[in-house]
Amino acid sequence: MSGAGHRSYDELLALAVRAARAGGDLIRDERPADLGVALTKSSPTDVVTVMDQACERLVHDLLLGERPVDGMLGEEGGTVAGTSDLTWVVDPIDGTVNYLYGIPQYAVSIAVVSGDPTDDAGHEVLAGCVHNPISGQTWTATLGGGAYLDGAPIGCSDGADLSQVLLATGFGYQASRRTHQAQVVSALLPRVRDIRRMGSGALDLCQVACGRVDAYLERGLHPWDLAAGGLIAREAGALVTGLGKALAGFELVVAAGPATHALLQDALQGLAPDTDGS
Ligand code: IPD
Repeated sequence: MSGAGHRSYDELLALAVRAARAGGDLIRDERPADLGVALTKSSPTDVVTVMDQACERLVHDLLLGERPVDGMLGEEGGTVAGTSDLTWVVDPIDGTVNYLYGIPQYAVSIAVVSGDPTDDAGHEVLAGCVHNPISGQTWTATLGGGAYLDGAPIGCSDGADLSQVLLATGFGYQASRRTHQAQVVSALLPRVRDIRRMGSGALDLCQVACGRVDAYLERGLHPWDLAAGGLIAREAGALVTGLGKALAGFELVVAAGPATHALLQDALQGLAPDTDGS
């Protein structure tokens, strides 16, 4: 599939966009007034709502209804093994805590990858879409085809002065991980323009892609948080890696224009941001 060219990627992207918009309409329009927590995952604050589950089911039906041979990896367990080389990686609501509280910063994130999306070195993201149903904004990218916001080309910022960098970040759901993340952030905060914690990793990567923040740093992202937004940021000119030469993945994601990325990598030396501390 990797050699099949942009036209095929565009067709995959068009399906991702249709599914993300349908899912976005559902979670925006059908959100119950008394929305509560359906279940919790890694900690009591790592929540799932009935709308995460409903959106994932809808997206599953749309994607695999049209492409039954493909697989799917969904955040809420909607995982299906396919017979093609393609897997759809779906976060039905990235920014679930924002959604629970009614903060309009959440998105449906859908990517299609060849290979195994759980193996950082063993997959390639071919197309991705991140859709915020409240702002109506849709970020898209195809591999080698550039990144777009609502159809207009976008590019990341870049600069050679760390003190001017607006840095987005996020924190895990486990108290032990947060303790170390707080130490990393407190070492960076005096050295950058400011920090933003907006609550959706997928949207943070899209903000890098369109220059609304200069960089993004987070440990603990899962494939569904990273796949679509990571491609969008890369196609907008950002480097998206782990620490040093490591690949982006659960251990760490550092996303920024090349000069900013190098400054941030230097600033991270000795902070062990790709660990939970000692
Ligand atoms: C979370 C958000 C958050 C990030 C967490 C993610 P979810 O995803 O992207 O910004 O800090 O690491 O798990 O739980 O809202 O889908």
